[in-house]
Order: sequence, then C-alpha cells, then structure tokens
Amino acid sequence: MAAGLAEFVVIANRLPVDRYIAHDGAVTWRTSPGGLVTALEPVMRRKGGAWIGWHGAPDEKLKPFEHDGLRLVPVPLSAQEVEEYYEGFSNGTLWPLYHDVIAPPEFHREWWDSYVDVNHRFAACAARVAKRGATVWVQDYQLQLVPSLLRGLRPDLRIGFFLHIPFPPRELFTQLPWRRQILEGLLGADLVGFQLPGAAQNFVRLVRERVGHKTHRDLIYLPEGRTVVARAFPISIDVNAFEQLARSENVTARCKEIRESLGNPKHVLLSIDRLDYTKGLRQRLRAFGELIRDGSIDVDDAVFVQVATPSRERVDQYRILRDDIDRLVGRLNGDVGRIGQQPITYLHASYPREEMAALYRAADVMVVTPLRDGMNLVAKEYVACRYDDAGALVLSEFAGAAAELRQAYRVNPYDINGMKAALMEAMGAEPREQARRMKTMRKTVIENDIDHWATAFLDELNFERPSHDKKMRPARGRS
Ligand code: G6P
Repeated sequence: MAAGLAEFVVIANRLPVDRYIAHDGAVTWRTSPGGLVTALEPVMRRKGGAWIGWHGAPDEKLKPFEHDGLRLVPVPLSAQEVEEYYEGFSNGTLWPLYHDVIAPPEFHREWWDSYVDVNHRFAACAARVAKRGATVWVQDYQLQLVPSLLRGLRPDLRIGFFLHIPFPPRELFTQLPWRRQILEGLLGADLVGFQLPGAAQNFVRLVRERVGHKTHRDLIYLPEGRTVVARAFPISIDVNAFEQLARSENVTARCKEIRESLGNPKHVLLSIDRLDYTKGLRQRLRAFGELIRDGSIDVDDAVFVQVATPSRERVDQYRILRDDIDRLVGRLNGDVGRIGQQPITYLHASYPREEMAALYRAADVMVVTPLRDGMNLVAKEYVACRYDDAGALVLSEFAGAAAELRQAYRVNPYDINGMKAALMEAMGAEPREQARRMKTMRKTVIENDIDHWATAFLDELNFERPSHDKKMRPARGRS
C-alpha cells in the first residue's frame, strides 16, 4: 500500500483551522469556530490519521499539509459553492429545518444541486486518502450524502457518520423536497450517531416509513444484507485539558483582572455563543434587563457579559440577528445603565481558549439558554473549568447537554418569567448548594469526556455484524 494513505480519516465541512490573511498579507491559521472542532481536535491528536475539510476561504486550492501535528487535507470550494452549498443548503435550509424551524428554511433547487456536487467532492477525496479497509468518520449535516457516495466508490471501508446537531421529528423533516436522498445518503454508513436517543429514533422511524427498510429498535436492515446501527453518543470535550488550563497561573491572574475591570460586582453572569438565532440571545438579555428594570437586581451588583462569536455573517438571518442584538443591547444599557455602570458588556469577537477559561472562572452564573441545540459544549466547558466547585449553571432544557447536566438550573428559554426566576435562584444560591450541584455535574463530565465518546463510537463502528437474512422482504416505502 502506498505510503501516506490513512487508516483513520475524519471528514468534516471544516478543517480544524481556518486560513486567515492579515492586512499586511501574512498568512496565519486560526482555530475554526464551533463545537465540532473543539470536540474532534483532541481525538485526532491522539488517534492520528487524516482530517479532510474546507479551509474557510473560497477559490483556493491548497495541497495537503501538516499543522501543529495534524495531517490536514483541504477540499476547495468555489465562491459560488460557498454561497449555494455552505451558506445556502447547509445553513439556509438544513440548519433551520433541523433546529425546530426557529427561522424559516428556504428550499432552492440550485442549492441542492451544489450540495450534491460538493458531497461528491468530499467523498472522492476520502476515497483517495483512505487505506484499504480504513475507518472513515463523516461529520455533520453538511455531508449527509457522503456515506453512500463513499461506499459506492470504496466498499472496503468502514464508514461512520455523526450528526452534531438535532435530527428533527418527521413532521419537520418531511418538508424537505430531498428527504429520501438524505436518508439514503446516511444509510451508506455502518453506524449513524446522534446526540440524543430521540434523534436516533426519529431517523429510524423515517427510514422505515419513507425508505421502506425493516427496522428493529436501533437496527436497520438493508435489502443487500447490511445492517445499519442508529444510536445516540452524546459528544463531550477534553475535560482534563480545560481543567488544566483553568488551573494555570495565567488564567488565574486573567480571571482576577476580568473581575476587576468589570468593577468587582457581586454577580458576574456570562454567556458565550456563536451569534446564531438558535442560541436564544434575545430572550436571555431581555430577562436580565427586566430584572434590573423591575428592581430585582441592583445595577451596581450585577454585570452580564455576552460574548457572541461572529458566524455565517453573509447569511440573511444572521445579519438580521446581529442588528437586532446590537439594538437590544444598546436599548437595555441606555435604559437601565448609569454613568460608569453598563449592565451588559457585549463582545462581538472570538477569543482563544485561554481567555474563555478565564471568563468561565470569573463567572458566578453561566447562562446557556439555546432555543434548540444538539449538545452545547460551552455548558460542559464551564463545568470542566470549575474545579473549585463554585459557580452556577443555568441551562436550557432544549440543549442536548440538559440530559446529562441534571443539576443545572433548568429553564425553558421561551418563558421569560421562568428564566428570570431561575437567574435569581442561581444568583442567590448558597455556596454549599452550588458546590453540591457542581460536584455532581463535574463527576458526569469527567466520566463522559471526549475519549469516552470517541471510543464508544469507534468500538461500535468496528463491531462485526454478520449479514442478516438477504431474503428478508423490505416494507413498502414512499418517497
Ligand atoms: C456547529 C456545527 C458545525 C459547524 C460549527 C461552526 O457546531 O455543528 O458543523 O462547523 O457550528 O459553524 P460554521 O458554519 O462556521 O462552520
């Protein structure tokens, strides 16, 4: 076998780093945004292998390269593909459809055509890079056709797929004009992983009803004798790495500095999200603003730090959201602030991990209130950084993480009064009560860290399942 072929391959829309060209023309690489990269990077670091993905800029063909010990294989996207496959079908159709249609999904045939083309390119790239019999792990909603395309090119491979975002109930999924192609695309995998059991069940049911394959619990029997497993594997983070960072001298000093520059208030509340309409920024800022306006909190006592990482800035819904949040923060600070006392510190920026760890340590209350979220790793990062067992987590019941972090102050983000009550409860909790909750949550994240996730998925993927009875008749399917 030729040198350089990989026994383990990850395919994701993005590489773990984005190519960034500074004003002076210097090329640098920056960590890509989002939870997928946070979770997978340590897995690749430990396992080795190749990572196939887009490097974040249009119209550039780059050769495979090594970066910081990782073997990266860039897939090019033209400016038109960025518009139609990435901003269009991935983030203007699938993203809102899979997140409860919080924003209306758009269906355009040119977007779909581009999605198909780009999925072909990723599959072809993996087919070139993977060694005979290799394990290939396809990631997320941008690449749902890759499993079956890749199987067509390379039937020798073991193919896994993991969806990082929610998988919708059939009432929503069936709006998609290309629903059957997506289901069949995923069925190219031997194992299809989801964040929560409910998502896996949605998928199995759709396959039974729309494609017509026989199913039993989490197993799907394909007519050619292959069995596909659909199961939940809740994703996590490198807990130890976050804790070590949080304990470091730099972070400890920076945490103190942050609190001082905020005026050492009694309560520091913190949210960190990509600036996305699924994250519930509006609702939480309104809840906090009302608490100050109605006198439940004194403006001298509390500061809310909202970090919003720029994201998908050319997609309409994201532009609208940015303007809305700018206006809302301006209005709230204008209404309830005083000279030298702005209740909301709003930062539209992305920060290195070290700064995030310092912010986590500086925050008395971490507010994670998405309207819908596959998992939400920020919640787990906060818990990982609170080795002092202090701090309180306010968590939306619509984040995947709520299934594990049961000792958080749980909220329905659509219920502003409920959210106000939870924020008050979290701010007023005795240190003993906070420690009791935090200790249990820490135990959960420490036991279920990213290695546990990767091992569980890959062990299941490599489990040999004998071919089932080929003569089994499929149930009748509709498109
Ligand atoms: C979420 C998705 C990832 C995506 C990330 C950042 O975490 O599940 O697939 O990479 O958001 O979004 P972006 O569009 O910038 O890649």
